[in-house]
Amino acid sequence: MSLSKRAQEVSPSATLQITATAKRMVKEGKDVVAFGAGEPDFDTPDVIKSAAISAIQSGFTKYTPTSGIPELKDAIVKKLKNDNGLDYTAGCVVVSCGAKHSLYNVFQVLVDAGDEVLIPVPYWVSYPEMVKLAGGTPVFIPTSLEEDFKITPKKLRQCISKKTKVLVLNSPSNPCGVVYRRKELEAIADICVENNIYCISDEIYEKIIFDGIENVSMASLSDKIKKLTVTVNGFSKSYSMTGWRLGYLAAEDEIAKAVSCVQDHSTSNPTSFVQKAALAAFSLGPAFFDDVRRKFQERRDYIVSRLDKMSRFLSYKKPEGAFYIFVNIKKTGMDSFAFAKRLLEEKYVALIPGGPFGCNDYVRISFATSMEKIKTGLDRIEEWLGTIG
Ligand SMILES: Cc1ncc(COP(=O)(O)O)c(C=O)c1O
Repeated sequence: MSLSKRAQEVSPSATLQITATAKRMVKEGKDVVAFGAGEPDFDTPDVIKSAAISAIQSGFTKYTPTSGIPELKDAIVKKLKNDNGLDYTAGCVVVSCGAKHSLYNVFQVLVDAGDEVLIPVPYWVSYPEMVKLAGGTPVFIPTSLEEDFKITPKKLRQCISKKTKVLVLNSPSNPCGVVYRRKELEAIADICVENNIYCISDEIYEKIIFDGIENVSMASLSDKIKKLTVTVNGFSKSYSMTGWRLGYLAAEDEIAKAVSCVQDHSTSNPTSFVQKAALAAFSLGPAFFDDVRRKFQERRDYIVSRLDKMSRFLSYKKPEGAFYIFVNIKKTGMDSFAFAKRLLEEKYVALIPGGPFGCNDYVRISFATSMEKIKTGLDRIEEWLGTIG
């Protein structure tokens, strides 16, 4: 067997692996509490399902334009204007098979061999792998729990070299729920503009923000940063449409055209009837998101109240968005892989080791599961910690 160097350098997705192991254990009849999931636990809303069914029944099952059907792209343009204060034309929007696909495409379009891509740590596991697949070099910007896991202008400047091409920003973030404020983003934007660095702004969790904190889109800050920013978003997390595979990006015309061209020669259009379903998703108003946010916030508040009682071993930064909490486990004396493996084997609780997110002293708990499961899982973790020290 002679695999390409590219294939040999890519690591498998840790999040997908653990989720698969937990699912296998459930099939074997084990009472697993799964804190691994990266997807909302509520069903896709009926209005979306119905739109997909009608589209199929009406024969909307053929190829569409690669970058998406015009009515969906127009709806995305409207959404970006209303929700994010962004002015784009439909030609600047490319719809793809998930935000992951949008991200993959844009790295292919922006990154050449030897280009450096700045990635704040902790990071979503796929960024460095996508950069490597594009031939680029990931350069990690360290952050810490004490700094609220946010990059500072000083740290950003320290990591910039002549080869720096792109900065990846993810707010609200996976895995730690960080939400950057307007002033913080402005300082980062100034540095990007000054150094002509592109910013890939992954805003996939924008609808899940707690405590009334404002979501600010990088590209909305000024015309200068808008020219350098690629805004990535999708339907998976906001509408519980993870399996449908639909995401999009908005960028300068030239970038969008290049992305569409790459997509022409890989997947072509995202699934026709899923695009119709996504169009129907936009009919869900603010009340829908208020309800989703309220549920996630209740769970977050419960989790932190329980974790506070385990402070002998665990510490955390209270998440401000998304549905994950990133927990420091250093005081247990285990690294993240040993912690996750033992907890799964001994207590049937599945969570994700922080190693693949760039932090081996942390584990990620997803609270995209019912309150009942959260209670059971935390009871088991507390009990287990009692036995280790
Ligand atoms: C930060 C981040 N970006 C992008 C994605 C990809 O989402 P999609 O399902 O739209 O491909 C995920 C999914 O877990 C994510 O956590």
